[in-house]
Amino acid sequence: MWHAACPNLRPRPIIMRTLDTRTPCILIADDQPDVLEALRFLIKGEGYQSEPAGSPAAAIGSIEARDFDAVLMDLNYTRDTTSGQEGLDLLERIRNLDATLPVIVMTAWGSVELAVEAMRRGARDFIQKPWDNARLSAILKTQIELGRALRNGQRLEAENRALRAERFPQLIAQSAAMRPVLEIISRVGPSDANVLLTGENGTGKGLVAQTLHSVSLRSPRPLVTVNTGGLAEGVFESELFGHVKGAFTDAKSDRVGRFEMAEGGTLFLDEIANVSLGLQAKLLRTLETGEFERVGSSRTRRVDVRVFSATNADLSTAVAEGRFRQDLLFRLNTIEIRLPALRERREDIPVLAAHFLRAHAEHYRKPITGFDEAAIKALLAHPWPGNVRELDHAVERAVLMAGGDIIRSGDLGLRSGREGPPRLEEMSLEDVEALLIRKALARFNGNVSHAAAALGLSRSALYRRLQRYGL
Ligand SMILES: Nc1ncnc2c1ncn2[C@@H]1O[C@H](COP(=O)(O)OP(=O)(O)OP(=O)(O)O)[C@@H](O)[C@H]1O
Ligand SMILES: [Mg+2]
Repeated sequence: MWHAACPNLRPRPIIMRTLDTRTPCILIADDQPDVLEALRFLIKGEGYQSEPAGSPAAAIGSIEARDFDAVLMDLNYTRDTTSGQEGLDLLERIRNLDATLPVIVMTAWGSVELAVEAMRRGARDFIQKPWDNARLSAILKTQIELGRALRNGQRLEAENRALRAERFPQLIAQSAAMRPVLEIISRVGPSDANVLLTGENGTGKGLVAQTLHSVSLRSPRPLVTVNTGGLAEGVFESELFGHVKGAFTDAKSDRVGRFEMAEGGTLFLDEIANVSLGLQAKLLRTLETGEFERVGSSRTRRVDVRVFSATNADLSTAVAEGRFRQDLLFRLNTIEIRLPALRERREDIPVLAAHFLRAHAEHYRKPITGFDEAAIKALLAHPWPGNVRELDHAVERAVLMAGGDIIRSGDLGLRSGREGPPRLEEMSLEDVEALLIRKALARFNGNVSHAAAALGLSRSALYRRLQRYGL
């Protein structure tokens, strides 16, 4: 006999995974060891894994312990070898445990009525013994695929429901580009892992931090935000760690810092790239040990906080340039969530716009119901350098401007996408090269030698490029 045949299966996670890339694993339930062995070989030959169960009780135990992709079960067990009642009972119990788990039943040759009864009770397919290998393989393949598709659909729906529920901030994300973000939120939200949020301004880093906190076990405790940008080092230190009376001229009384306020909850360090190197060292120590002192005090205190941080800067460049400590980065980015720019997820634009429209129309008490076609087109075409925040503001302005019950493109006041110079990060390398060459030529009134020298190219190298770009 064999043991623990599906070693890569873990106990059911609290929030299920959305994507399933592991090797399919099939539970085989039959009380005849030779049947189990033969099926195991067949299943292994198909590239799947299997786990045997010699009795209905063992099958239930396995299903309660972990996830399977399908169950292949006999309907007849020793206690009652002909009626199939034990098998039908097992089928029912499996269905009660997990209605999305595909069950394929095996019946003795000639007992078609029993197979039909099993199908009526929720079995997805049946096969008669002695089975035909090719047919069994085909059934397994189909059921595994169907089962996975069904479960993925249900999980996505459940995740979205969870994220949209009343007590959570509403994070709108329907695009494929945001799917990994949602998945990480549902997977690491409940854990205690530190999370680093990166992305351009207005992409939703703050909102994702709130969402992560709200799905965590720390949600009854506060999410405390510290905006690290623009504070002088001394002020920032007392902001983070607090101070005692007399610690400095303005310290007229004791003050509790943000770390202490966040006790048991989460501290959100926004704009983390702006923290000075001196404070980075202090921050690192607190993150490593949970210990700190209020400014002006020598008494060491302890805190239990989870830390989120956010930045729109590239921290690895900051590390390479010696502006950010690598050891601190490693503490902060246990998990990193990169929020895509809005222009990388245009499918979300109409949904987000409708969401902001509802909110602002309600706020300003204007009976506006939607956008006309040209307005939607304008929204889709705009590059949104300020991302979701800019979209929010544009819709708010349009709600105020709109004369009728519908927003027209003119109400949005968006400059058409072609105006102004293109943004560097939206251009290809070749476009950038061509642009620089054009500018250099303009600067030197078309003098190729001077332009080449300014670009650091030989004359012939510049000529080759002029030809290539048709300049
Ligand atoms: N996916 C989203 N669904 C709904 N609202 C969103 C979404 N993303 C962002 N918002 C809203 O857009 C605004 C900007 O988002 P947020 O402040 O979280 O961005 P940010 O990345 O933290 O920006 P910054 O870098 O400037 O701090 C907020 O009002 C937020 O509620
Ligand atoms: Mg923010």
